[in-house]
Amino acid sequence: MEEADFLVDIGPKAGIHGGAIVQACSVKEVLAGDSITAKYLNGKLKIEIPSIRRKGNGKFLELKGATGNNLKNTDLKIPLGVFTCITGVSGSGKSSLINHTLYPILNAHFFNGVKKPLPYKSIKGLEHLDKVIEIDQSPIGRTPRSNPATYTGIFSEIRELYAITNEAKIRGYKAGRFSFNVSGRRCETCKGGGLRVMERNFLPDVYVEGETCQGKDTTVKRLRSDTKEKTSMIFWK
Ligand SMILES: Nc1ncnc2c1ncn2[C@@H]1O[C@H](COP(=O)(O)OP(=O)(O)OP(=O)(O)O)[C@@H](O)[C@H]1O
Ligand SMILES: [Mg+2]
Repeated sequence: MEEADFLVDIGPKAGIHGGAIVQACSVKEVLAGDSITAKYLNGKLKIEIPSIRRKGNGKFLELKGATGNNLKNTDLKIPLGVFTCITGVSGSGKSSLINHTLYPILNAHFFNGVKKPLPYKSIKGLEHLDKVIEIDQSPIGRTPRSNPATYTGIFSEIRELYAITNEAKIRGYKAGRFSFNVSGRRCETCKGGGLRVMERNFLPDVYVEGETCQGKDTTVKRLRSDTKEKTSMIFWK
């Protein structure tokens, strides 16, 4: 933001609390002002790093000597039992290291995957894992009904969570009612899929947004990423 010639700050907050042009001016003028953006830019407000962190289980997955593409004999040590995120500027080598080196190694080890990993020296700690799951933007199933949440089982937890709310208890709704595979609560036009199937003669089916809920009745759309390439790995044990 500080490198911009001109800054249009839209907000001040999200959703119904936004929608206004807070400022449209030079960065200098923004910094001199009292907007939320200014406060974060000049350090008056900041997002603290949480003081309590999950410790992990003390075990690690260690990849050594990765040299694929631009990787310079890179070593990687991923703590297990915690959520780990790989970050870096575009072109720094995240995909080379994770998608094209680590993932094929794990996929070959656990599932006899045949894709050859980019060159590396050694891998340690496989015994601490029991599987690898690659999540990318391609649909998991053939229909919009399956999504990363149903696939990983997280959606069952979400349904349980809905069922223990006071509103659900008063109405006697059990977890099953919050499935979009069950009629009743869901939008019956799209049958909870957010999308409707249009069958076409001799051509593949197409999916269109339902006219009743316009795709709102679904977790699918929010969970399915339509960005360039988003891959996450989940390590389990
Ligand atoms: N198949 C390939 N052949 C040759 N060079 C490649 C190949 N794929 C990637 N590279 C190069 O390797 C470097 C790292 O690319 P990589 O895709 O791993 O980066 P990244 O961190 O995943 O970037 P992004 O954030 O854009 O996804 C880049 O310089 C890229 O041009
Ligand atoms: Mg990448």
